[in-house]
Amino acid sequence: MIEVERQAALDAIGAEVAACTNCRLHVTRTNAVPGEGTAATEVVFVGEGPGFNEDRQGKPFVGQAGAKLDALLASVLWSRQEVFITNVVKCRPPENRDPEPAEITACAPFLTRQLEVLDPALVVTLGRFSMARFYPGARIGQVHGTFRLADPESGAPNALTYAMYHPAAALHQGSLNETLFRDMQGVPGALLEARKQRSAAPEPAPGPVEARVDPAAGAEPSPTSDAPIQAVGELDPEGAESDPTDQLPLF
Ligand code: URA
Repeated sequence: MIEVERQAALDAIGAEVAACTNCRLHVTRTNAVPGEGTAATEVVFVGEGPGFNEDRQGKPFVGQAGAKLDALLASVLWSRQEVFITNVVKCRPPENRDPEPAEITACAPFLTRQLEVLDPALVVTLGRFSMARFYPGARIGQVHGTFRLADPESGAPNALTYAMYHPAAALHQGSLNETLFRDMQGVPGALLEARKQRSAAPEPAPGPVEARVDPAAGAEPSPTSDAPIQAVGELDPEGAESDPTDQLPLF
């Protein structure tokens, strides 16, 4: 699909999201939030669900968590215009509660279709609900800052996924700010690794791949350009760790 076709397909999905009544979140929403960014990107960021400001504006990550995401992107010299940003659920859960399993299930086909259209090389998961879709059974305290092949059922069978804490985590728990920025430094390297794997193997490899990127390795690629591919990655040395964001509210 060429870029204009991708954009048209994303717009069509967005229109369906705006009219969706598949779960009860449609009753309380002001605006649905399908997602936004460029159809030309190789990188998709997936958060949990819209908060107050997102519901008002119909755009993802425009509140405090969005300012943190912008700062994270800027720390690797990226911007939101170069990526695509969306959420697991497209309508705000009332009072910023966690999305319920039935709501996640009802909304899942939209994210699947967005990923099929964009065919990203890399999906960055923000928070545990997003992580659960691409890393079933994982704990964020163990997998943050690492990448692996996406679950083929996710809609992005040719992508690597890279797990991060939710940007709002740093607003609640200052100690996670440093972790978030450190993990962000690994994202460009994960993109290089994803490009390498896609060019080497057009079909998804059968076994799981799990690794941590060395942020010091190589220059940072743009998420919308074809930078040269460089070798990165080492096996995740990290052991078990508690999950400090288990009870975080959404923003
Ligand atoms: N938190 C999310 O997970 N998504 C948004 O769009 C905003 C805040």
